Parts: sequence; structure tokens; C-alpha cells
Amino acid sequence: MSDDPDSDADGELEARLEEQDAFDPPESFVEQANVRDEEIYETFEEEWPECWEQAADLLSWDSEYDTVLEDDDEPFYEWFTGGELNASANCLDRHVEDGAKNRAAIQWEGELGETRTYTYGELLNEVEAFAASLRDLGVEEDDVVTLYMPMIPELPIAMLACARIGAPHSVVFAGFSADALATRMNAAESEYLVTCDGYYRRGDALNHKEKADKGLRGVDHDVTSVVVDRLGDELTHFLGSNAHDYGDLVEEHAGASVEPVSRDAEDMLFLMYTSGTTGEPKGVKHTTGGYLSYAAWTSHAVLDIKPEDTYWCAADIGWITGHSYIVYGPLALGTTTMMYEGTPDYPERDRLWEIIERNRVDIFYTAPTAIRSFMKWGEQFPAEHDLSSLRLLGTVGEPINPRAWKWYYTHIGNEECPIVDTWWQTETGGMMITTLPALTTMKPGTAGPPLPGIDAQVVDAAGQEVEAGKAGYVTVNKPWPGMLRTLYNNDDRFLEEYWQEYSDPDSDEWVYFPEDGAKIDDDGYITILGRVDDVINVSGHRLGTMEIESAVVGVSGVAEAAVVGGDHDVKGEAVYTYVILEDGQEATESMRERIVESVEDGIGPIARPESVVFTPELPKTRSGKIMRRLLEDIASGNDLGDTSTLRNPEVVDEIAGHVDDE
Ligand code: WT7
Repeated sequence: MSDDPDSDADGELEARLEEQDAFDPPESFVEQANVRDEEIYETFEEEWPECWEQAADLLSWDSEYDTVLEDDDEPFYEWFTGGELNASANCLDRHVEDGAKNRAAIQWEGELGETRTYTYGELLNEVEAFAASLRDLGVEEDDVVTLYMPMIPELPIAMLACARIGAPHSVVFAGFSADALATRMNAAESEYLVTCDGYYRRGDALNHKEKADKGLRGVDHDVTSVVVDRLGDELTHFLGSNAHDYGDLVEEHAGASVEPVSRDAEDMLFLMYTSGTTGEPKGVKHTTGGYLSYAAWTSHAVLDIKPEDTYWCAADIGWITGHSYIVYGPLALGTTTMMYEGTPDYPERDRLWEIIERNRVDIFYTAPTAIRSFMKWGEQFPAEHDLSSLRLLGTVGEPINPRAWKWYYTHIGNEECPIVDTWWQTETGGMMITTLPALTTMKPGTAGPPLPGIDAQVVDAAGQEVEAGKAGYVTVNKPWPGMLRTLYNNDDRFLEEYWQEYSDPDSDEWVYFPEDGAKIDDDGYITILGRVDDVINVSGHRLGTMEIESAVVGVSGVAEAAVVGGDHDVKGEAVYTYVILEDGQEATESMRERIVESVEDGIGPIARPESVVFTPELPKTRSGKIMRRLLEDIASGNDLGDTSTLRNPEVVDEIAGHVDDE
């Protein structure tokens, strides 16, 4: 067994696991699972789209919907039309009314070891106080409020306060730069910002307010802001004009009662900007009824969340994973959701396992990149802790290699927890392709079949289903409640980005294209191969190569740049930049630093290039297009194959030589 400290036994175990390519869920899990009816796949197919009433039934509606799916104006689908509800009332009030007032809703851990518990009753009070404050500041229904905050409880509080008064939020990841904040506030014409003074990272107090202020200088319109004091005396900051202190506001409005606004099912709950093929981030629009039903349903069916659980998704709320599976899904189900402010290796590499042990965490959901780090650090760190409270494990964000899957299964799950490898996207709102933990056999490295009611396929360039084992592209052939409704203020781009590739409007066939490559096996299990557009996935974070390129060419002296993703042991992919300098410019260390700095300023430290390669030329096709594939292969150290079709084949060896030097 994996808890045997004898390393020989461990070696045997590894060898046995290496052979095994299918795992069945343990009986102890199956017996207690939320979804155990094997017929569910069939019933959802037969009863589609009415099957989705099951998702809507997990919520409390102010007025019942008339139609499950409205498809008059494809692909602008509408779900649960005519229904009205409020997301914060679904995440808070109804649980308090059902007697869960004293159950922990949010269990927060600061990096330095402080903890804060908000019961459902306390969370509701604070959400109401902040909702009243936002109203006082002038926020009206449908005004977009930007939230630029790290992992502190005030972030979900602000999200729920916005939801309560019908003001869509737009959360900008705290690790994004000032420029990224400004771009998103301008695009959403957002006149309100909630941010904080700073936060801790590896024990250091980071100044976040400075970055927010810098961002605000790039916003074209007036902004009213609210600042949370996270660091107390550690960092003194000046509020400045048009800025308010969060603590003062909440104190002033303590005890306020704010009726949750009844929102139409199709009213926007939030916007989330994500990277795409062009340099402009896309404002993905999610709705109140469909999104919330889908987040709650997948939390129930896939994550097996129950109200009495302590559940932990170790993602950041600044990304969709945190929206759906730290905040909305778990709170809609009335469970205890954990939040951790810091890094997994602070103060020691056992931090996460220590948190799981102390809080008796039942369900743990993280990204493959994190698992690869844990593997690197070694199994002794989890082995020091009692992880027996765990019942289910999950992964998300990028493909997980079978070795990492098996390490997670053994050293974290003690071979007793099913693992759900969940494929989805910002745009899909919730999980789409994954096993159901009590019903489907798990195959390491393969996400699994599409969820019940999800009609996903793997097709070739012509839209024909590929044979088992052949590479193709994922498509989704039927709508689902959690889907994005459009790109904010940009229906045309919505159509182009997601529907143009495979739909046939003349025969009324609408096919959603997620821009991922994949293959399918004989059992209908889908293995995701990665993005097929100019998006790269660094540590599970989605970055647009065009955005990074524009930061690189913004450096004076740079003539041309190409940014690609190359394989990386821990991060999955890393950013590689190939740079051509203007005549007379020297490839100096300071030039390299300026390029790196410009990327950090333009996007954020997560986009920091792994390597900057100066080259006199980029490999181009005869028609003059940059051969990105080739640059990716060079970065990944892959075999380059035939390069004779290039206009300038000689440049390849030259570049490859430089990458090796790095
Ligand atoms: C892209 C979406 C889903 C929330 C976090 C990322 C990749 C996501 C998996 C998985 C293989 C995955 C895809 C997808 N991806 N989950 N389980 N296996 N790849 O959301 O930032 O919108 O990125 O992440 O390439 O298109 P996102």
C-alpha cells in the first residue's frame, strides 16, 4: 500500500500502477454518491433538453421559467426563459432560511497562518452590508463592477453583493498587470472598481493598490473605487479622490437589509475576460439562470458536493474555475468552501496537505501543473499528513499525463478516491467532458466521455467524426445551460470565434468549436491534445500569444517578434519569444530585460518568457507566413522534420542553436 514507508514496496506499487490503464471507483464512494443512476446518460439523451430541468431544480426560483431552451435565434440560445431568480439569494438566503445559518460557508486561510470563518449567516450579513454600500456609491442594476482582488474573502463577498443588486461583476485576476486592468475596464465601460491595498506572497507584503492606481490612470472614464485594507499597518496607502475604504463602508451599512433583485434567467451574472486569437481579450458573458444551474449541477454530479462537506478547489477566483467551483457552485449547494491566499510551498512544501488535514477536507480539486510540482517535491510531504478525510479528487485546466494522474491517485488519494479529470473552458461555464465519479471507469490521461446531456464529438477538418485513435478537433453539437451567450458588445466576434468553423446555417446546424485538438477511443473517451489556436496554456493559465507579441514589439529597438508555447515539465507549456531587432540594435542583456519587463507590464508575471531568443530572421513559408509550428517544435526540443518547404530553411539551425544556449 502507498502508506508503507518501505521504498521497495513503493517501487512495486509504481510498477503495478504503470501497467494499469483503467480504474473503477471504489464501492465506498459509489454507495454515497450524489449521482449513481447508470441510466443517466440515456435518460439525458432521451429527454433532452428537458433533462436540464434537473439542473434548474437545484436552485430556488422567484418565478418559474416557461421554456427550458429557446432556440429561435441560433446560436443565441436562451435557457429557462421567463424564469426569475437571484444568485446571491440562491447562495446565501435560502441556506440561512433552511437552518444552515451557523454552517461555515467560507473557510479562509491566509498565507501567514491566520484563518477566518464566515458562516452562512455572517456571509449574508456582510454581503448585504456591502451591497447597500455599492448602491450608496451609485451602482445600479446592470452596471459592470470590476473586482481586482487576490484570494481574500472580500472577493467572493463583493461578487455576491454585486449579484444581489443585479450588477454584473468582471473579476480581473490580481496577477494581471495595470495595463490588463485598464484594457478590461475600458472594454466593459466599467465605472466601479473594488480592489485592495495588498496581499502576501511567500511571506512578502505585495503592494496591489499601486498597480490598481496605475491601471486607473489608463481608464478613459471616471471610476469610483473601494479599497479593502488587507495588510493593516504593514502597508499604509492613501485612498485618493473617488476612493472609499471597504471597512468603513461595511461598518456604516452594518445590519442593512438589501432585498435580492429578481433577475431574469437570461440577465448577465458576470463578465469574464479571456484570451483569444487576437490581441483583444474577449468578454465572455454568463447569465444568471443557465450559468448558475450548470455550476450547481456539475458541482453536484461531478464533484459530488454535499452540504456537510468541506470542499477545496485550490484555484484562484480570478479565473473561471474559481467562479464556478469556489464560489457559485459550492455555495449554491450550501457546502463549506475553502479559500487559500498563498502559494503551496509557503512556509513549507506540505502547506496544502497540512490545510487538508487540519480542516478534514473531503474533496480536493486542483490543476495538473500543481500536481507535477508536488511530484517533483516528493511524496514525503503528503505522507507526513493524515489525508484520510479525502473522498474525491479532481483536476482541471490542462491535460494530465498518466504518471501525474497515478501519483495523485496514490499519494494523495491513497487509492481510495476517484479522480475526475474535467475538461471545460471559460466559455462553457462548467465541466463538459469528464467521468462521473461513481459511474464511469477512469482512464488516466483521458478526460472521459462527455457528461450526460452534452453532445461532444471529435471531428476532422471537414466536420466528419474521426475514427478511434485519430487526432481531430472537439466540437459540441447541442447547446447547454452554462454556455456563454455572447462576447460582450461583440456578437460578430462571438459568431466568428465559436460558430463559424463547423456550423451550417443554411441547414440550421449549429456547432460550437472550442478550439481544442483531441482524439477519441473505442469507448467514447476523449483525450484532449491542447489548443489549436494561438492560445497557450501556462500552468493552467490561458494566455494569448498575440497579446504577448504586442508587448514585445512595444519595446523600442524590436522589429518583429513571434511568441509560441514550448513544452515545460511543470508548467505544461512555457512562453518562448523569438525576437528580431532593428538594424543597429544589439542583443544585450539589458534588451532582454526590457522585453521581459514589457511582458510583465503588459500582461503580468505569469506571461514571463521562459526564453528570449534573438534571431536575424524567423522561419517563413514561401508565402511569407511565420511557421509557428516549427518555432514550437524548436522550443520543445522536438524533431523538426522536413524544413525544405521554407523560404529560409537555413535560419532553423541558427535559431535552434540559440535556444540550446539559453
Ligand atoms: C482551455 C480552457 C476550465 C477552466 C480552466 C481553464 C484546457 C481545460 C482541461 C482538461 C485538457 C484542458 C483546454 C481548454 N483544458 N481543462 N481537463 N484536459 N485540457 O479555462 O482558461 O478558459 O482554458 O484549457 O485547452 O480549451 P480556460
